[in-house]
Formats: sequence, structure tokens, C-alpha cells
Amino acid sequence: MALGDDSSGRAVYWIGPPPPAVLTWITRLLELATFLLTAIWVVYYLGGVGLHPKQMMLGANDTGRIFNWHPVLIALAFPVFMAEAVLAYRVPLVTSLDRPQRKIVHAALHSASLLCIVLALIAAFQSHNLKRPTPTPNLYSPHSYLGLAVTILAFLQFFLGFGAYLYPTVAKRHREALGPLHTYLGKATFVAGLANMAVGIQEKTAFVVQGKGLSGAALYKPVVSIPATIELLLLLTGIAVLFHHQPPAAARRHTVDTDNLLADVIDDPAA
Ligand code: HEM
Ligand code: HEM
Repeated sequence: MALGDDSSGRAVYWIGPPPPAVLTWITRLLELATFLLTAIWVVYYLGGVGLHPKQMMLGANDTGRIFNWHPVLIALAFPVFMAEAVLAYRVPLVTSLDRPQRKIVHAALHSASLLCIVLALIAAFQSHNLKRPTPTPNLYSPHSYLGLAVTILAFLQFFLGFGAYLYPTVAKRHREALGPLHTYLGKATFVAGLANMAVGIQEKTAFVVQGKGLSGAALYKPVVSIPATIELLLLLTGIAVLFHHQPPAAARRHTVDTDNLLADVIDDPAA
């Protein structure tokens, strides 16, 4: 897989880092596949989306179609909009953009992501509150606690980004100092969002398995195997997006205690 050596004699691999253009396109296909598969799951296997509760007998109703906006909007928010925002400085869709323009695209994509998150939370809360004969309690699950925490982090990042980089009076030395913090917290928020999608998908799948009483061979039906596939796509999307942030190999710094290193590492002049 090595293409050759760089100027310092280190091997350079085809796969990177930095990744070749084809990996960037594979990343975008993964983002799209995650969203589309979530939409297919919701529309064809969970009953689709709707804005009003479906009336049933004896004053009961079904708010499942209101809830279903939740996964669809979240699948746009994290694997599509936030993923593209995290890539916007390094591999923007329009490569001719200069840095200030990339900043606008970054902020716009995060705004779109936050809007989807807020609407997705409203859908989840409304589906609970409008449920009859008895409303479903809110914020009872580990998924909802983690979800609120991720949402708060995303908003904090937005205000940090907005305050430090869009507001013109912040001094350059402050912007530069806040850069690593904003970058680090941004990537952490993105990963936490994908992780909480996995938790939510698992929770919903468990509800479906329980509700339909699935067992044995029925557990391999698409209503269960599609969410399993989405979880794998989430992992691949996260890895692929963050690979774009990995710098190329650099000489190691001599900050380690060499007493604790193995002999072959000490002998290695690059160690
Ligand atoms: C496609 C992925 C997701 C699915 C399938 C999903 C599924 C669910 C389900 C079944 C519930 C209702 C039960 C409960 O309250 O735990 C729920 C509620 C909730 N979800 Fe998700 N979720 C997903 C992604 C996310 C993400 C990424 C976040 C955060 C950014 C999030 C935040 C919440 C919150 C805050 C609630 C509580 C709403 C309430 O108590 O009324 N979800 N989700
Ligand atoms: C108005 C909103 C925002 C603005 C104006 C903004 C601005 C910026 C700027 C100027 C940088 C470059 C920092 C540097 O290189 O020193 C940056 C990087 C970054 N931001 Fe934001 N940001 C905003 C919102 C967010 C949000 C909500 C998140 C995540 C939840 C986020 C995640 C990141 C990440 C991961 C990077 C690193 C990108 C890279 O190194 O290629 N940003 N942002």
C-alpha cells in the first residue's frame, strides 16, 4: 500500500493521511447512505411521518408518525449537516472557496444541523405529550439524558464559534487561542451525536421487537436488520469524517522516558 517515501524517509501510504479524493467521496456516500437508510426504515417499516396523531378507539391515539420525524431529522443533523460542517474547512464541496467563505459555509451547515436537532426534539416531546389516553413521560431514558447533553454541547459550540469568529471585535489572539478548544469540542460533539444516534436506534428497535413480539427467525426481518446496518454506517461515517482531520506522519518528539522503551524502539533513530 506504500506509494513511496516522503522527504524525511517515512513511508507514504495510498490511503493517507491525508486521504486521497476518492476517500472523500466515499465519506460523502456514507453520509448519504446513513440518511437514506434511516429514511427508508422510518417510511417503509415504522409507518412513515405525519403532523397529527392518528385517532384510535376508546379515546386512544397513535403518535408514532409524529415521533418518526425525530430519527429522520437527526439523521440529517449529524451524519449529513454536521459531518459536512466538520469537513468544510478541509474538503469543502466547492473547492474554490477561500477561508472566510469556508467559515460562512461551516456556520451555515451548523445552523442547519441545529435547526434539525431542535425540530427533532420537538417531534419527540410532542409525540409524548399528545399521546392519549395517557401522555408518555418525558426525559426518562439514558438516551434522552445523553441527547440533551449533546444538544447543549452543540449550542455551546455554536455560541463559542459565533462569538469568537463571526463577531468582528474579538481580538486575533483570542480567536487563535480558542481555535484548538473549538476544534476539539466540535469533533467530540459530532462523535457524541453519532453515538447517541446508535443508542436511540437501539432503543427504538427494542420497542419495535417488543411491540410486534418478534422472536426467532423474525428477528432477521428488515425492521431489525436495517437499524443494525445503520449502526455500522454510523461507525464508518464517523471514522471517515475524522480521518480528514488526521495530519500526515511527523517525526516523533523526544519527550518520552527512554528507560521505559523497548530496546528496538531505542535503537530506532526515529523513535
Ligand atoms: C436516529 C437516531 C435516533 C433514534 C432512533 C432515537 C430514538 C428515540 C426514542 C425511541 C425516544 C423516545 C424514548 C425516550 O425518551 O428515550 C427518543 C427520545 C429522545 N431523543 Fe432520540 N433518537 C435518535 C437520535 C437522537 C439524538 C442524536 C439525540 C440528541 C441530539 C436525541 C435526543 C433525544 C431526546 C432529548 C429525547 C427525549 C424526548 C422526550 O423525553 O420527550 N435522539 N429518541
Ligand atoms: C456560528 C457558528 C460557528 C462559527 C462561526 C465557527 C467558526 C469556526 C472557525 C473560524 C474554525 C477554525 C478554527 C481554527 O482553525 O482555528 C472552526 C473550526 C471548527 N469548528 Fe466551528 N464554528 C461554528 C460552530 C461550530 C459548531 C456548532 C461545531 C460543532 C458542534 C463546530 C465544530 C468545529 C470543528 C470540528 C472545527 C475544526 C475544523 C477543521 O479543523 O477543519 N463549529 N469553526
